[in-house]
Amino acid sequence: MNRFFEVATGAAREAGAVLLAEHSRPQKISYKGDVDLVTETDKRSESLIVGRLRREFPDHRIVAEEGSAGSAAASRYEWHVDPLDGTTNFAHGYPCFAVSIGLLEDGKPLLGIVFNPVADEFFSAFRGEGAFLNGKPIRVSAIDRMETSLVATGFPAHKRGDVGNIHYYWHFTLCSHGVRRDGSAALDLCAVACGRFEAFWEFGLKSWDTAAGILIATEAGGRVTNLSGGPYHPGDPDILVTNGHVHDEIRRTAAEIGDKVAKL
Ligand code: IPD
Ligand code: CA
Ligand code: CA
Repeated sequence: MNRFFEVATGAAREAGAVLLAEHSRPQKISYKGDVDLVTETDKRSESLIVGRLRREFPDHRIVAEEGSAGSAAASRYEWHVDPLDGTTNFAHGYPCFAVSIGLLEDGKPLLGIVFNPVADEFFSAFRGEGAFLNGKPIRVSAIDRMETSLVATGFPAHKRGDVGNIHYYWHFTLCSHGVRRDGSAALDLCAVACGRFEAFWEFGLKSWDTAAGILIATEAGGRVTNLSGGPYHPGDPDILVTNGHVHDEIRRTAAEIGDKVAKL
């Protein structure tokens, strides 16, 4: 096994075990914004992952959501870590959350791991080698119309009123099999990768939310762009990930909705 993959796998499994052990216990919640929650578990998980990556790869840059990685010199290798994606779910005992670890090489996704410890689902991908769920290859779905698609989105915890995603949510709900809002972007991306959802879009995600999941979706045959169909880089303001077949239809529809929202 590649050394990067081995270390990231060990870190994700260890952090996942922490989430699993702590999710049924009462949580001490703090707030980073009005509805932006953080628990002690986010921090414990992060220091475990960051500690391990730093020990193994002292020259690499690490970007982690809770800031424990500090600032590091530039490197061609950048780890983007979400120690607990789905904190609001976690804090409410809703069992939908994951550890997400992505590695970029010269700005391009090289490795992605997303681990849901409750479902014991370990999603992984390495560039050029396919995407896997618990070691078995996964593929996006073959559905080719929005009308028969199940899609997903999410809403940022910061400046929730600014984007108008509720208009997209409303529209896509009426013209698909439905829109899920499950509270973990990393798992939403993996759900596209393994054919549960046909598409996922969101505004305002951070690099640690998407760095791993976009590679898993791409390696599973999916398509990743911004909502206008241009290239997407982790941390860009909006994202569209689909099975490829419904991409253009969703992108066109999103453009129409965007025009209407701009005139409101
Ligand atoms: C959040 C989740 C959620 C998405 C939010 C993210 P967090 O991450 O991924 O699904 O809608 O935009 O901030 O805060 O639980 O790590
Ligand atoms: Ca997140
Ligand atoms: Ca998080």
